Amino acid sequence: MIKRLFLILAMFSQMTYSQNHTDATRLASDKPDLQQAFAAADTQLRYQLEQVEKIRKTKKDWTLVPRSIEKDGNLRMVRQPDWCCGFFSGELWLMYQHSHDSFWREQAVSNTWIIERAKLDGGSHDLGFMVYNSFGKAYELTGEQSYRDVVVRAAETLASRFDSHVGCIRSWSWGTPERWQFAVIIDNMMNLELLFEACKLTGNRRYHDIAVSHANTTLKNHFRPDGSSYHVVDYNPKDGSVIKRITHQGLFDESVWSRGQAWGLYGFTMCYRYTHDKAYLAQAQKIAKFWFSQADMPWDLIPYWDMRDPAIPTGVGPAKDGSCPRDASAAAIIASALYELATFVSAKEAKTYRNYADRIMYSLTTKYLAAPHTAQGFLLQHSTGNYPAGDEIDVPINYADYYYLEALNRSQTFKNK
Ligand code: GLY
Repeated sequence: MIKRLFLILAMFSQMTYSQNHTDATRLASDKPDLQQAFAAADTQLRYQLEQVEKIRKTKKDWTLVPRSIEKDGNLRMVRQPDWCCGFFSGELWLMYQHSHDSFWREQAVSNTWIIERAKLDGGSHDLGFMVYNSFGKAYELTGEQSYRDVVVRAAETLASRFDSHVGCIRSWSWGTPERWQFAVIIDNMMNLELLFEACKLTGNRRYHDIAVSHANTTLKNHFRPDGSSYHVVDYNPKDGSVIKRITHQGLFDESVWSRGQAWGLYGFTMCYRYTHDKAYLAQAQKIAKFWFSQADMPWDLIPYWDMRDPAIPTGVGPAKDGSCPRDASAAAIIASALYELATFVSAKEAKTYRNYADRIMYSLTTKYLAAPHTAQGFLLQHSTGNYPAGDEIDVPINYADYYYLEALNRSQTFKNK
């Protein structure tokens, strides 16, 4: 009798699961059409280059870089030291990586050098974003010494933000002592790639050791038992103790800010690539498991900006949207990370990660791309930058496009690994 009851319950829960995941199951067999996606990106980025050129000419400023779209529909242009200043040239390098077309290489070269000064910017932890995704990519694809030198100089600058009491690189230099004394954000994991790479290029272990110390301290203090991550950990710079765990870009301190989870997943996967430390691999797997368990994940796997926002529509299915913005950038980062994570695990687990990433990329390429010659030439729509500040909500943003192109490239290059 008990056995039969259990069976009925199991069948019922299976039925509910199937109903809720019908679309997701269908998507499991859908893969992004890579050739079509790159062709669309080619058209759209050429258009963006034209828009950028017009603004640079009008403003007589050749250092401006497209970041997003303003509320009035105009291009939001930034320059170094904006943390997003390196993604645009990175995108151009990613186009070159795919096409080997000299057009993209020429565009990438000129748009890379305009942010060179970032290598000396000791006021920010974002040097990895700025310099690794631009000069680092350039060095990877060309092997030219001049790019290598900028990467190494930037790593030296980033290392100067390391505090041995805390064991971390300081993320933000701003903020009152009441807000935080030594803020470390989960995003900072991404900047460790610059240090690991600089160690490889120079043989200087100090860069490696700083990156490892930062990753270990983050591993210890940034995560909840379920594998989700806080956004900000505030440390006491005198003794390295944790003062508090809070959010800055999420909805509330205990919420699940989607892009933060994405940075953590990507960051620990990347740390495993350089160190082969199983603790990093386990952490990346734990983050993925947590992410896959989100009951409120929309069927197209493009997350809401914060997965604990009460404005998330109830029920699963094509979004009854409008009430809660998505974050396509988080989805693109997660897809890119999962393609790499799949190369480090068993064939069975790899299949799960690749399927999930493919499903994200299928959604992005079929539902989230801007129509050609619209959206100021950005590729993806519907990212959310800083919701609490009311800034860049449900708009295109250049880092979404960067990780989207990276994921497209990885989907190809990591296929048989
Ligand atoms: N600080 C990077 C981000 O907004 O995700």
